Amino acid sequence: MVEKIAKPFLKWAGGKTQLINDIEKSLPSKITDSKFTYIEPFVGSGAVLFWMLNNFPKLEKAVINDINEDLINTYKIIASKPKELISILQIFQEEYHSLEIDQEKKKEYYYEKRETYNLRKKEKSSQAALFIFLNRTCFNGLYRVNKSNGYNVPMGSYKKPTICDEKNILAVSNVLKKVEILCGDYEKTLEKVNKNSFFYFDPPYKPLSETSSFNSYSKDEFNDEEQLRLRNFCAKLEKHGHNWMLSNSDLKGKNPNDNFFDDIYSKYFIARVQAKRSINANPEKRGQLNELLITNYINNTENGKQRILVENI
Ligand SMILES: C[S@@+](CC[C@H](N)C(=O)[O-])C[C@H]1O[C@@H](n2cnc3c(N)ncnc32)[C@H](O)[C@@H]1O
Repeated sequence: MVEKIAKPFLKWAGGKTQLINDIEKSLPSKITDSKFTYIEPFVGSGAVLFWMLNNFPKLEKAVINDINEDLINTYKIIASKPKELISILQIFQEEYHSLEIDQEKKKEYYYEKRETYNLRKKEKSSQAALFIFLNRTCFNGLYRVNKSNGYNVPMGSYKKPTICDEKNILAVSNVLKKVEILCGDYEKTLEKVNKNSFFYFDPPYKPLSETSSFNSYSKDEFNDEEQLRLRNFCAKLEKHGHNWMLSNSDLKGKNPNDNFFDDIYSKYFIARVQAKRSINANPEKRGQLNELLITNYINNTENGKQRILVENI
């Protein structure tokens, strides 16, 4: 029997755990009243997905997608072969913990696993286990690849990280039963809609400055043109009568004159909310930053007064 509540099985840049309260307040009321399909086209570690699956019994089906093939392979393996995955992770955990006092050997072990992962020649369960191992032991839980999709994050400094969280993997596997898992560009999720579908978009954030932010989850960059393509996709969903919510960084926090998102989403509802982000090598630069929650329906966040309401033109 699975008792544990499923939670994200990865550390992931931009994880949305700290935004959940605001996201909850901003949900369209109709989705909690009747059966619905939840669609998350940029799922990452799935903080919102798992929260939705745990809290909304009327969620009939979920569809998740990400462009990162290695991430999606891991979701698929957890869904289909959780026990096989657990047994590989248990070995990694025992081996890694046994090296606790020998920093050099630990390093050797980490870099050897990273090399094996990058060859992408192991069968899918082992690749998924390597993916989780690297995520738990690397620097700050980063996922960063070079142009040839080579994972290049150095080892982290955790003494005895949990590499195999057996109970959570089983809980995740259980809730994934009602989740369809896709891999590719977010636009293909449109094929999966039904009458009462709700989309939550958490795309790679627009960097607050050229050097500050980190958005290389995949080998393809998510630049301004990409942000615009996403806005066009959201407009298309609106035309089809679907509700959506989208989060992004609030560029105004850094530069009050930066109207990029205010301009491209001027037809919709924009709320500014506070969130902590911790992926930053420099602890002084971590902290409270404003985030945007944009919806194509009126939302009820507490800071409604700050909301810029623009009539649909
Ligand atoms: C900000 S992260 C999502 C974080 C997630 N909400 C969480 O809680 O961990 C953005 C995700 O978008 C994915 N991505 C980037 N470009 C994409 C595209 N064109 N289509 C689908 N996913 C994409 C990245 O691989 C990454 O996992």
